[in-house]
Amino acid sequence: MFPGPGLTLPEGDDRAGRRDRLPLGPPAALQEELRAPDPHVPPAAAAVPAGAQGGAAGGGDGSALSSRGAGAPPRRPLFAQPPPETGGPRGHGARGAAGGHGHPPLLSLAGVHADIGRYKVLQGVDLDVPAGEVTMLLGRNGVGKTTTLRTVMGLWRVREGRVAFAGRELSRLGPAAIARAGIGYVPEDMGIFGDLTVEENMRLGARRRRMRPERLDWLLAAFPALGTFWHRPAGTLSGGQKQMLSLARVMVEPRPLYLIDEPTKGLAPAIVSVLVGALKRLKSEGTTILMVEQNFAAARALGDHAAVMDDGRTVWSGPMAALAEDAALRDRLMGLHLEARR
Ligand SMILES: Nc1ncnc2c1ncn2[C@@H]1O[C@H](COP(=O)(O)OP(=O)(O)OP(=O)(O)O)[C@@H](O)[C@H]1O
Ligand SMILES: [Mg+2]
Repeated sequence: MFPGPGLTLPEGDDRAGRRDRLPLGPPAALQEELRAPDPHVPPAAAAVPAGAQGGAAGGGDGSALSSRGAGAPPRRPLFAQPPPETGGPRGHGARGAAGGHGHPPLLSLAGVHADIGRYKVLQGVDLDVPAGEVTMLLGRNGVGKTTTLRTVMGLWRVREGRVAFAGRELSRLGPAAIARAGIGYVPEDMGIFGDLTVEENMRLGARRRRMRPERLDWLLAAFPALGTFWHRPAGTLSGGQKQMLSLARVMVEPRPLYLIDEPTKGLAPAIVSVLVGALKRLKSEGTTILMVEQNFAAARALGDHAAVMDDGRTVWSGPMAALAEDAALRDRLMGLHLEARR
């Protein structure tokens, strides 16, 4: 679990994946702090009775608070060479997700290698994530997608290669420093506390446990179910609602970049549509996202760019439209796995 910056991450250099097991609940002092009322909770959310039904439908207008570009000064692209042609399943087209539209990538991985124990899991990941757009990280099971996100967050050590974020080298920083640099991480297992209410989970993601009203408006407009179930323990939410909470709690503080690991995993198709709709709303605000997704329909609906991994490497990258239009290429890169998991 990775409940979020500032909550459970120690301050020091705490990389190397030692924190797969984080506390099941927040420490007692934090629980005490959460009991104090939040003066910034909007009346609309606070007034919803705890037992109200409704789910994910509806929603109003939120404030258009964008996380775009903060902390992302213009800089020279790390990769000088043009994006290669789309190619075969190995060693071609692995760079250049920025796709030549002129903006330097907000996040760049160059030749990244990382080990888990004695296993060489990442063996050359090259990836660009352009600012203000959504990049999808795709590939078969077990090829290293989650490991890539965890390595960017400093949860696994970069043995070789570079990870640059907004012009800053991250590969020698620990997870707390990387989170403070402006990267929000929504892990595969969501990292929410089932015993705490939706409100409490959200407040844990906020600086000094205080949510800014305009930010909360924006999040509740994107994820209206959270307002409906504001006072419910998160453990009682449906799978899709939990996933929305896991996204919203990381986004409660605007960040230049979000890494999101398989948000649609295990959700029914109708719920996937709701989640994709919510993520589209975030995307329309210019949010920069690097997202792992196995559901190709969802990936196609949200992604501007795609990068495909195989065996610990990126083996193709380019516009999502190019991958969506080329079934043979998709099949060569990813086999039947993605289609089967639609
Ligand atoms: N904690 C771990 N200990 C040992 N091996 C691991 C660990 N985490 C991942 N691996 C191995 O590293 C490889 C890459 O795993 P990773 O979770 O990054 O793949 P993935 O592409 O995210 O797969 P999936 O689509 O199943 O989520 C796999 O072979 C996996 O078994
Ligand atoms: Mg994974």
